[in-house]
Amino acid sequence: MCNARTMSEGIWGIQPAGPLRGEVEVGGSKNAVTKLMVAALLGDRPSTILNSPSNGDVALTAGMLRSLGAGVALEGRSVVVDPSPIDTARVPLRYSGANRIPILMLGPLVHRLGEAFVPLAGGDRIGTRPVDYHLEALRAFGIEVTETVDGIEAKGTNIRGARIRLPFPSVGATETVLLTAALAEGRTVLENAAVEPEVVELALFLQRMGAGIELQPDRRFVIEGTSHLGPARQRLGGDRIEAFSYLVAGLVTGGRVLVRGCSQDRLVTAISTLRRMGATFDINEEGIAVEGRGLRTAAVHTDPHPGFMTDWQAPLAVLFTQVQGMSILHETVFEDRLGYVAALQQMGAEAELFDQCLGGSACRFHESSWRHSVVVRGGTPLHGTELDMPDIRAGFAYVIAAAAAEGGSVLHGVEQLERGYDSVLEKFRSLGLGITVIEST
Ligand code: UD1
Repeated sequence: MCNARTMSEGIWGIQPAGPLRGEVEVGGSKNAVTKLMVAALLGDRPSTILNSPSNGDVALTAGMLRSLGAGVALEGRSVVVDPSPIDTARVPLRYSGANRIPILMLGPLVHRLGEAFVPLAGGDRIGTRPVDYHLEALRAFGIEVTETVDGIEAKGTNIRGARIRLPFPSVGATETVLLTAALAEGRTVLENAAVEPEVVELALFLQRMGAGIELQPDRRFVIEGTSHLGPARQRLGGDRIEAFSYLVAGLVTGGRVLVRGCSQDRLVTAISTLRRMGATFDINEEGIAVEGRGLRTAAVHTDPHPGFMTDWQAPLAVLFTQVQGMSILHETVFEDRLGYVAALQQMGAEAELFDQCLGGSACRFHESSWRHSVVVRGGTPLHGTELDMPDIRAGFAYVIAAAAAEGGSVLHGVEQLERGYDSVLEKFRSLGLGITVIEST
């Protein structure tokens, strides 16, 4: 049986082969690389990003930057962005809905060329994903912003620092503010900012370019604008989403996975959550390994950093299906990020969605009808099936669910996975998972 078909390109057949065991070297952070590529637009000479993951989002962002005239060289794990040849401030409409990066280009492009156009934002279908915080922030800098049917027009010549308070610590909106404030005239104070490690990586990159940026302990960025930024060269930190996903892939199948290339400080909440469930960690200079049988149930809610990351919840829900007893997951960052639960049910998982806030205190969605909590009665065997991957994180969750299932599965829409995960086919195969590429992307 198959759920609603999307425009799927790649198709994989998954043949479970017992516990996944082995080592995975995670790539540089997907959620930071593209932002650093955008930041490079603000400099006067080429900037270099090292330890870049090789995934579809990097290629897409490179295409967008090239369409503006920028030089982008992708060589192995390095990305070099030369902003000097930029001659247009319009991101072509063909990038409409591609990912969430164009909106971040508005501030830098207005700084460089006095105007900008970006097509409508895309990204994973995990909620309504408005861009109102971005637009309000840009207006606070004195930028004139107009929404059109195709996208967003912006213009401005006198961009001044501003005092901005975000209604919610949005990662993207914080990045918009940092990218706009760095070259604005005067001081910007951003309150209730996101402080995710990837946001801090962007701030560090901008600091290397010459920006005056301080992060105060109370979620407050203070940025002293400067009139000129130079190039930067920075190595990306390891992808904490990828790291967590493979650690859980080992646990779900009763195996043991060692991840290298992602520092422990990016995984503190993830490690403590899995340890509370009874997982055993071995953490040293080599990497982070986890194993564990007979794990205990948990009640987990997602939160902005340093809380339990929303991108970690889908693999965790798959793990819940294999843990005897009732576990609870409460998603508080995106209102509609539990769509993958239907696929787990199709595979035999006992799980029920609720619009109430279960597991943790009431969140922004407590009076809405969004079904953002799930109760999983674990310990039921999963069986293989045929599924479409709706987004990156759900896609990975389906692979590990298929790896833990009895019988084979067929997964459509593998391009979702490849957009966000570095060398995902090779990495799963190296852990012992049987994957047949039925149709390549
Ligand atoms: C980024 C990450 C994504 C991660 C998320 C939260 C990238 C490419 N993606 O997404 O993997 O899950 O952070 O850690 O880095 N919001 C508004 N209005 C806005 C902006 C956001 O209402 O203008 C809301 C969103 O709908 C959501 C919440 O704020 O409910 C958080 O979104 P945000 O942190 O902005 O996520 P992204 O930056 O899109």
